Amino acid sequence: MLSIETDRLILRELTLADIDGMFELDADHEVVKYLGQKPFTSKEQSAAVINSLLQQYAENNIGRWAVIEKASNEFIGWSGLKLITEPVNGQVNYYDVGYRLIRRFWGKGYATESAKAAIQYGFDTLKADTIYGMCHVNNAGSEKVLEKLGLKCMETFELRGLPHKWFRIDKS
Ligand SMILES: CC(C)(COP(=O)(O)OP(=O)(O)OC[C@H]1O[C@@H](n2cnc3c(N)ncnc32)[C@H](O)[C@@H]1OP(=O)(O)O)[C@@H](O)C(=O)NCCC(=O)NCCS
Repeated sequence: MLSIETDRLILRELTLADIDGMFELDADHEVVKYLGQKPFTSKEQSAAVINSLLQQYAENNIGRWAVIEKASNEFIGWSGLKLITEPVNGQVNYYDVGYRLIRRFWGKGYATESAKAAIQYGFDTLKADTIYGMCHVNNAGSEKVLEKLGLKCMETFELRGLPHKWFRIDKS
């Protein structure tokens, strides 16, 4: 199984063994505040998310990765690339960079550190020419991460009725 190491993190594919951490993540109203979803109330919802990821790994050879903090060996959330196969802001069949961390692990630079490795993987291994990202216009923390990763805001657009910023980074 794929495993990528950064200074402080291990990135690997999720498995159903990550279900408790995934539930802690998506049950937190602060985590889902800008994501247009309600906090999860049952672990079956988390199992459905993990199963969808397992399908993406099998079909697309890529999907968001589990993030493990090396110092504690704890699952702290997910980060990485998703192949988008339905049109978003006029784009289709592209790699989107995203991240979602359990709240007690925010503010340590982990989203940036993990997504940086994922973008590198996208350009070097998946041979992407461009990687896109987006966030709700009020999601200042996520916007900051996208900027720190080197993505540039191109425009704002509506996603499911909510205003979002659209970012991109080119390999060149
Ligand atoms: C967005 C998220 C992944 C950031 O994780 P993180 O590990 O704390 O991010 P980093 O530490 O790498 O960087 C965050 C940066 O944003 C800044 N930041 C955080 N909240 C901010 C806010 N409300 N306003 C302005 N800047 C903010 C931090 O200071 C930091 O910048 P710095 O390095 O210059 O100090 C995390 O908050 C999260 O999981 N949020 C919920 C899910 C989510 O919104 N995902 C993104 C969907 S588009």
